[in-house]
Amino acid sequence: MRRLRLTTGGESHGPGLTAILQGMPAGMPVDFAVLEREMARRMHGYGRGNRMKIENDSVDIRGGVRGAETLGSPIVLWVENRDYKNWQPMMDPRETVPHRVEQRRVHLPRPGHADLPGGLKYLRKDLRDILERASARETAARVAAGSFARMLLSRFGIDIKSGVRFFGPLGAEAPPPAWKDLLQVDDSSPLRAIDRALEPEMVRLVDQAKQDGETLGGGVTVIAHNIPPGLGSHVQWDEKLDGRLAQAVMSVPAVKAVEIGAGISASQGFGSAAHDIIERTDKGSWRRPTNRAGGTEGGITNGEDVVITAFKKPISTLRKGLPSVDLDTLEAQTSQYERSDVTALPAAGVIAESMVALVLADALLEKLGGDSMAEIDAHWESSRRLQKEWP
Ligand SMILES: Cc1cc2nc3c(=O)[nH]c(=O)nc-3n(C[C@H](O)[C@H](O)[C@H](O)COP(=O)(O)O)c2cc1C
Repeated sequence: MRRLRLTTGGESHGPGLTAILQGMPAGMPVDFAVLEREMARRMHGYGRGNRMKIENDSVDIRGGVRGAETLGSPIVLWVENRDYKNWQPMMDPRETVPHRVEQRRVHLPRPGHADLPGGLKYLRKDLRDILERASARETAARVAAGSFARMLLSRFGIDIKSGVRFFGPLGAEAPPPAWKDLLQVDDSSPLRAIDRALEPEMVRLVDQAKQDGETLGGGVTVIAHNIPPGLGSHVQWDEKLDGRLAQAVMSVPAVKAVEIGAGISASQGFGSAAHDIIERTDKGSWRRPTNRAGGTEGGITNGEDVVITAFKKPISTLRKGLPSVDLDTLEAQTSQYERSDVTALPAAGVIAESMVALVLADALLEKLGGDSMAEIDAHWESSRRLQKEWP
């Protein structure tokens, strides 16, 4: 990110998670309800493990906010891990007695997780030293920070939603949805599916997977609505907004592919079926009857909705295990199982929304500049006016 900087810290079963978000302007009103709502949304979804029953994520603001307004200083957020009390002997930073620290030692790496490459890279013999940080628990800190980005965007009318486009094989041929489709998504439904008719079958598939010791993934689409033209730039590879979005969404744990707009089907057909023709309305604005490009051309927003789909692989901790090798004996052994989700696709959608919010807020601040909301509001007005007057 260019204007914003986000750093998170903390282990999955440690005392808690910290997020430090730097670069937000001063004077932005803080809507605590948004923060609480997003934290609750991340915890929801059919197929999650018992951890989500233990946690009840709330955010403690430890810096950067005063009197319900941002100060322009780093926003420091703290999310306590309630499960820490069950893990203290193993996770306490001051505990040195080996048999206490290593009570839950992990020595059978799980294919698909960070266990083996992380152990090799950091030369750790207890793979817990890796998995504690690789765990998607870290994303609670990202969602907390992302909610501040949402607050900034919503001041300019920008809204972000997501929905499950397909789940495992169910609905896999569905095209990218439009904003109106995401307005239909029921956030309290088991899988937050865009096609609600598929939910009962999806629930049955989760139950089947659970019974079989299996896991599942799928595709979740995020749409950012009411986006001004001109965010991101074509002039340099790392300024292109599609690339910035893809990196941010790909960083969501277990996301292995990202599609902008209808990028996959467009690549399989003719050009005339891939692009969005340009029209001018009677009122003097630009119109694109389709949005196959997913809101960006040349790495710049074109004023259409930004549409991005994350393809998430199945969870790598299978109850039935997968072939692996024991670090102690170097013999073939089944991978270790530890309490885990069967699927976390609905939550991945919420996390991807947060990442999209952070990238768009970053691009908006980059475009508008300024240290305070007053300056940003003024720059927004003049930028919109000049765009209307063009060409
Ligand atoms: C919300 C969410 C929850 C997850 N829960 C689990 C889990 O319970 N067990 C697991 O093995 N992986 C889980 N994952 C995926 C792992 O965190 C991820 O596969 C792992 O860190 C390796 O990274 P990579 O898949 O991106 O290469 C989850 C991912 C997300 C987004």
